[in-house]
Amino acid sequence: MSTVNILEQMVNKIKHYPVMYREVLEFLDLKNKRIVVDGTLGMGSHAYKFLEVMPKESFFIGIDRDHESIDIARNNLAQFALRFSLVQGDFSQIDQILKGFKALDQSPFSNGMYGIDVFFLDLGISTYQLSISDRGFSFLKEGPLDMRMDRKYFLSAYDLVNNLSEEELIHIFRKYGEERYSRRIAYFIVNERKISPISSTTQLTQLVTKAVGARSHRSRIHPATRIFQALRIAVNRELEVLEKALSQSISLLNKGGRIGVISFHSLEDRIVKHAFKSAASLGVLKILTKKPLTPTENEIDENSASRSAKLRVAEKIC
Ligand SMILES: C[S@@+](CC[C@H](N)C(=O)[O-])C[C@H]1O[C@@H](n2cnc3c(N)ncnc32)[C@H](O)[C@@H]1O
Repeated sequence: MSTVNILEQMVNKIKHYPVMYREVLEFLDLKNKRIVVDGTLGMGSHAYKFLEVMPKESFFIGIDRDHESIDIARNNLAQFALRFSLVQGDFSQIDQILKGFKALDQSPFSNGMYGIDVFFLDLGISTYQLSISDRGFSFLKEGPLDMRMDRKYFLSAYDLVNNLSEEELIHIFRKYGEERYSRRIAYFIVNERKISPISSTTQLTQLVTKAVGARSHRSRIHPATRIFQALRIAVNRELEVLEKALSQSISLLNKGGRIGVISFHSLEDRIVKHAFKSAASLGVLKILTKKPLTPTENEIDENSASRSAKLRVAEKIC
């Protein structure tokens, strides 16, 4: 089977099983919402499910940093033409993005307001991005050390790995990867790059494996997992943009509007939990998921990538 066919099959499978979509649909309650924003459009799989149930007069806005994903999503959503608009950008710029819509002649926003009724995030990278070796996100595929979601962004994983000081690398590996062998791995990296730059995913994976050595047998996950996660978070400033997006989107929500976020690791989930709690303590949000929802056993069997997903949803009450 050709690579194109494999990719097509994968895309089709994902299209029908976006992570926790049943729970997302139930909690976002899209039937009476007018403006729905998905800040992490990806291939448009959640978007597809949303547009299927959204009222005909409602409007969907999809945002993604990755223009390749936008192209795929546009194709996947073609049957809903005129009911959506897709924007290449950062979800933490939601305020600016919506202002751009307001200025359009055919704006979906009425009477100069640009409040929204739903804001949704499904964080991290997509299976599509992970599957393309050229993007450098996967330690299992040979590729350049890139990891940028937006390929026009000036900084890549290569720049961090080859230019940061040993202390800065340790800090990133600890903070964003919670990696216990951060010091040893940074030491190996700094020594290796004195000989030649570390330019590929495989080179970095081998180096991390060598640094961790037999200690890795004690862990269930591949020794490079946390290092790749840490670099990806640092390159894309994932935690900073999440904090910014949550505070902006909560103030942009109309009364009765809902915000839903799927996170995949504790660093993200902590930020979401904290943002919801502090807005709830001010009487702005009502938290609808006292504890985060997690995927069913069935879903995890169908799609193992969903296993660490946590969904939190809240409603704007004033
Ligand atoms: C897990 S995927 C989303 C998959 C999507 N829900 C679907 O159904 O196909 C996350 C997507 O969010 C995008 N992304 C991550 N951080 C972003 C940000 N700050 N701004 C815009 N897009 C972002 C990534 O490029 C990726 O395509």
